[in-house]
Formats: sequence, structure tokens, C-alpha cells
Amino acid sequence: MAVYNLATIDVAKVIMFVTDSSLNQTNKPEKKRFVILISGLGSNMQHIAQLANDSSSRVSIQAVVSNKASAAGLDWAARRGIETAVVDHRLFSDREKFDQALARVVVKFEPDYVLLAGFMRILTPGFVNQFKGRLINIHPSLLPAFPGLHTHARAIEAGVQRHGCSVHFVTDELDYGPVIAQAALEVSTTETPEQLAQRVLVLEHQLYPKVVQWLSRDQVTLDDNGKVTLHGVSYRHIGTSE
Ligand code: GRF
Repeated sequence: MAVYNLATIDVAKVIMFVTDSSLNQTNKPEKKRFVILISGLGSNMQHIAQLANDSSSRVSIQAVVSNKASAAGLDWAARRGIETAVVDHRLFSDREKFDQALARVVVKFEPDYVLLAGFMRILTPGFVNQFKGRLINIHPSLLPAFPGLHTHARAIEAGVQRHGCSVHFVTDELDYGPVIAQAALEVSTTETPEQLAQRVLVLEHQLYPKVVQWLSRDQVTLDDNGKVTLHGVSYRHIGTSE
């Protein structure tokens, strides 16, 4: 079996940042407010939340919100002093009512951006449009390939050479919003979907925090035609195992 050494990927070499000196009056960086929605472990959320530990970071995690009280990521966040909230989807008669309740909770935290990180509910157009241009998702495939579920098994089944993950703006269409950045790896001919999922998750943990940093520094814009522009960022693709 081919073994790829992800430790050899030096993200710093392929991602360049511009130095942004727009500090506020106290010489502290202006922070962007993020709310993260999860349904389970929240390992992506954990990697994003760790960005806020850096004193020069512009990332402020306002809350972690879940549709499941049992989501392990809630405990992780609460133990670190991050506000948490649960909106249990089973208590609502339809998707619209759940999404309206979810939106009311999210809005209380006044987010600049809402990040979906393993949030396993399909959101209604009402919710998506309320946060248009500010709602971001990570999906475990190289979109537009393999939207939906079971992406790793489907990638292996299709015999693709490359697979990975995408961070994208959320639109009404499931897993089809404008892509901000992607990370890719070579698919081994012998690996299982579980092994591939594990390797892609490592890339997710690198990619999503990078995009959140860009958002916090106003380096990502989305125009009315759905075109994403990255300012001062040289590459929107990381993590090839070649
Ligand atoms: C990730 O693979 C993400 O891409 C997908 O669900 C998984 C969530 O993992 N949407 P975690 O909850 O962040 O650990």
C-alpha cells in the first residue's frame, strides 16, 4: 500500500499571507466574530477555535451551536469557556421552523460569519439567504465532485486519483456553493473509505483554519455573480501528496 507522509506537506510554503496593518485604536487587531455549527465531534471546530489562542489573531469564536445535545464538541467548547447552545431539531415540526429557531439563536451572537463544521442538517433557503455571503461549509470532497454523503467510498468506487476537501460559501444548492479553497491528496489503490476519510480529515484540519484566518483578515470576497476572490493569497489549493 502506498503511504503518503502528510508531515512533509509544508502549508507555509504554499500559502502566502499579506501583512495587514489595519489595527484598531488600542493597537489590537479588529476581531471578526464567528459562530460555529456542529452535530458531532467537532474536530474541525476545535482546530478553528485554537486560532483564537494566538494574541495576534483576528478570530473570535462567539459560540458553538449544535442540533444535538450529545455532540461531543459542545463539551470541548464549554470547557474552554466558549459559549454553547443547543437547538434540538426533533422539537420542531418542519425544517423551516427549526431553521428559524436556529437563526434566532445564531443572530444573538452577532456573527460576521457562520461556519458549518460537520453540521448534519440541510438548511432551508430562508436560513441560507439570511446569512448569504457569510455562511461557510467544509465538505469532504473536491467539489463539484461528490456532493452529498459517503464521499470517500464514492471516490474510491469511481477510481479517482485525487480526493480531498473543499471550503465553500453555502448556497441553496446542496454542496454546490462557490469554492474558497481546496486541499487534495492522492488516493491509494488499496485504501478503505475509512482510511481515506482519516487522511482527508487531516487536510480539513489544515484547510478550514486557513480559510477562517483569511476571512478574519478580509482576504476573501464573494461578488454578486458568485465569484470568489482571494486577496493577497497566492494559492487556494493545499496538501497534494506528490
Ligand atoms: C468532516 O469530514 C466534514 O467535512 C463533514 O463532517 C465531518 C465532521 O467532522 N461535513 P468533525 O465533526 O469536524 O470532526
